[in-house]
Amino acid sequence: MKVVVSIGGSVLAPDLDSRRVREHAAVIESLAEEGCTIGAVVGGGGVARDYIGTARELGANEIELDDIGIDVTRLNARLLIAALGERAAPSPAETYEEAGAAMHRGDVAIMGGVMPGQTTDAVSAALAEYTNADLLVYATSVPGVFSDDPNEVDDATKFDELSASELVDVIADLEMNAGSSAPVDLLAAKLIERSGVRTIVLDGTEPGRIGDAVRRGDHGGTDIIPTGADDEMNYWVTEEL
Ligand code: UTP
Repeated sequence: MKVVVSIGGSVLAPDLDSRRVREHAAVIESLAEEGCTIGAVVGGGGVARDYIGTARELGANEIELDDIGIDVTRLNARLLIAALGERAAPSPAETYEEAGAAMHRGDVAIMGGVMPGQTTDAVSAALAEYTNADLLVYATSVPGVFSDDPNEVDDATKFDELSASELVDVIADLEMNAGSSAPVDLLAAKLIERSGVRTIVLDGTEPGRIGDAVRRGDHGGTDIIPTGADDEMNYWVTEEL
């Protein structure tokens, strides 16, 4: 089974705690030992936002700010590489080809951002599409896809299941509301729809949840079911890892 895991910077290293990074690495390592081919894409989190905020005050333009963000995602990726040791390719992949080649030779591929104008949400979906992954998991700091930003709206409801085109509609609505943040951005949602990759959005603050989701489809987040796929959730019991 081939899996791409997207780990938000605020999920991997909210406070640069080595124990947390090690826990994420341990989950990836055990899945790899069980036979999973894995690519992980790491976000920039609060550190990226802090750098971008400071550089904006200093007059950097938007592309320069994105490049700073990309640098921070790659720094975070290096933390995960350090924890994975020889399991991972020694530096963050800078292209999908590089990541795909690492996965092909049996390494865990780790990457951050790729180019200005997007986020690692889209990089993760693109890597899943490029490598023809069976599953894409977004480990975020919210427990799934909601009708509204749960941090802003008290009665926001969580979707247990969405089709990929429903995901695009929900995210487009969320992004229309200034200030509300979506767990996955619109470009990523469109790439998920285009590629037809089965996707899970879950609360990744507890790293073990990623392993449960990959092994058994067992999670409390949102399932994104591709058009035409069997929505009887029997995928995990029938597929060999
Ligand atoms: P993130 O993917 O962490 O962005 O990349 P985000 O969605 O703002 O972070 P979360 O999910 O809320 O924690 C950090 C920044 O790096 C740049 C963007 O500026 C992004 O905001 N970036 C990242 C790119 O320009 N291109 C990429 O491919 C990836």
